[in-house]
Amino acid sequence: MSLKKPNAVYYSHMHYKFGKFGLFLFAAIVLFACKSALYVPSKETIKADVNIETLKKGRTLYVNNCSSCHALYLPEKYSKNEWIKSVDDMAPKAKITNEEKELILAYLTKGE
Ligand code: HEC
Repeated sequence: MSLKKPNAVYYSHMHYKFGKFGLFLFAAIVLFACKSALYVPSKETIKADVNIETLKKGRTLYVNNCSSCHALYLPEKYSKNEWIKSVDDMAPKAKITNEEKELILAYLTKGE
């Protein structure tokens, strides 16, 4: 079989390529999976002029104060105006301060 050797070389080359592609695929799947969960504020997930630390505080407050009665709603689920209304409605239920409310709202609307 004169093709055997070139095949083997081709295969090992493909294998190497698939390794990189596999990594890419893995990253893509992880990224996709993350889309169905609460986003973590970072340079990749929010606009450049939005303060990451502020949104991180908001995320923590959201997770800690808003999940005792129902599952956490995804930020993408509502528009900014809908969030303003819901967070206003929920603030007394969650017994949060005005500052906490603003931080949670900032996280939910991605600071926009
Ligand atoms: C003490 C229980 C309780 C806590 C804490 C709570 N919720 Fe709710 N939430 C409810 C109930 C009950 C509903 C069902 C509809 C309603 O009463 O408006 C609801 C509904 C919602 C809805 C659906 C839309 C709407 O406005 O009805 C959203 C969004 C929401 N909550 C967000 C939040 C956020 C954000 C927080 C944290 C600041 C929070 N919830 C904390 C009880 C709670």
